[in-house]
Amino acid sequence: MPLRQVVTGQGDAHCSSSRALTDSAEKFMKILVTGSSGFIGARLCQAWSNRGAEVVGTYGSSPSLVPSGVARVALDVKDPVAVTTAVGQCRPDVVIHCAAFASLQGCEDDHQEAEACNRDGSRHVASAAKQVGAAMIYLSTDLVFDGSRGWYVDAETPQPACRYGATKYEGEKAVLAECPEACILRLSWVYGTSANEHRCSAECMIDTLGRGRRVTLFTDEFRTPVLVDDVVGIVEAVALARVAGTFHVSGPRRISRYEFGLLCTKAFALSEESIVPASGSTTASLRPKDCSLVFSSRLRQLPCECRDPAEGLSYMASSRRRAKQD
Ligand SMILES: NC(=O)c1ccc[n+]([C@@H]2O[C@H](COP(=O)([O-])OP(=O)(O)OC[C@H]3O[C@@H](n4cnc5c(N)ncnc54)[C@H](OP(=O)(O)O)[C@@H]3O)[C@@H](O)[C@H]2O)c1
Repeated sequence: MPLRQVVTGQGDAHCSSSRALTDSAEKFMKILVTGSSGFIGARLCQAWSNRGAEVVGTYGSSPSLVPSGVARVALDVKDPVAVTTAVGQCRPDVVIHCAAFASLQGCEDDHQEAEACNRDGSRHVASAAKQVGAAMIYLSTDLVFDGSRGWYVDAETPQPACRYGATKYEGEKAVLAECPEACILRLSWVYGTSANEHRCSAECMIDTLGRGRRVTLFTDEFRTPVLVDDVVGIVEAVALARVAGTFHVSGPRRISRYEFGLLCTKAFALSEESIVPASGSTTASLRPKDCSLVFSSRLRQLPCECRDPAEGLSYMASSRRRAKQD
């Protein structure tokens, strides 16, 4: 499948052709990643840097978590002037907006900060990207849905049940208002190996189990987990193809947190008995019950894949073993 294939998304989505790339230009691309000190942002920076692209990574408060080889820039996305200045000075070909106030409880406790960062910050980033003619990619979330039904498709209208999901959805709308040709990727729960200490919840769980401790996981909270390496591949593919629209990025299996935990014990040779099943419905959980996403049929046309969690976890375990041997 050619990398430069053009794919259009739902509604009025279209492909930006103003700064179309050639095969050889890929190496000379300039990428700006907001939230490059975070779990996904750091992995994206590493991947683009390894491809030979020039990468500028912005961070909020943790410069040391931005991967080496990446030009670091301090940037609070809530500050519109700072965002315009940073993007204007960098003049990237592609902006990948990962920065977010991503704590569910934090967003409930400080709604104003959540709106300022996730909605207004996203608007500032999209507006700045538009001004320099850069392609805009925004990472959104499965939590824009209320989780009452599951298996949501790209075209479904979000109905967020938590403030994090609501402000991320507001962010989607703000991005599209500024930049109608933006690409919005709604990610399912992402797991995998982090590039820094900003570890994902699956890694934390695996480490806890590895220390011989027990972990309690919900049997009635469902997601379609996706490996971070597959997210990285999809972001690369949409950036190169200049895909526009709103798309769901998810693994192929709808699975409870508990079942995911059991798969982790298999992949990492840990004790199954350490996983304690529990029902989320008995707790005052903020987490929607079933936010499973159907992987976008339009993204299937690109050269990218999302692995089953059993395969993804086994890949994660073998990469970890290799890293320890090196
Ligand atoms: N991880 C998942 O399972 C998942 C699932 C669905 C969607 N997503 C979305 O994917 C994106 C990346 O997620 P992640 O897991 O990598 O998040 P993360 O690890 O929590 O990282 C968040 C990043 O945002 C930065 N940040 C926070 N507030 C900021 C501000 N006001 N200005 C500038 N930067 C700020 C942080 O910088 P410092 O740490 O330097 O302060 C950090 O680099 C987010 O948009 C999230 O909504 C993630």
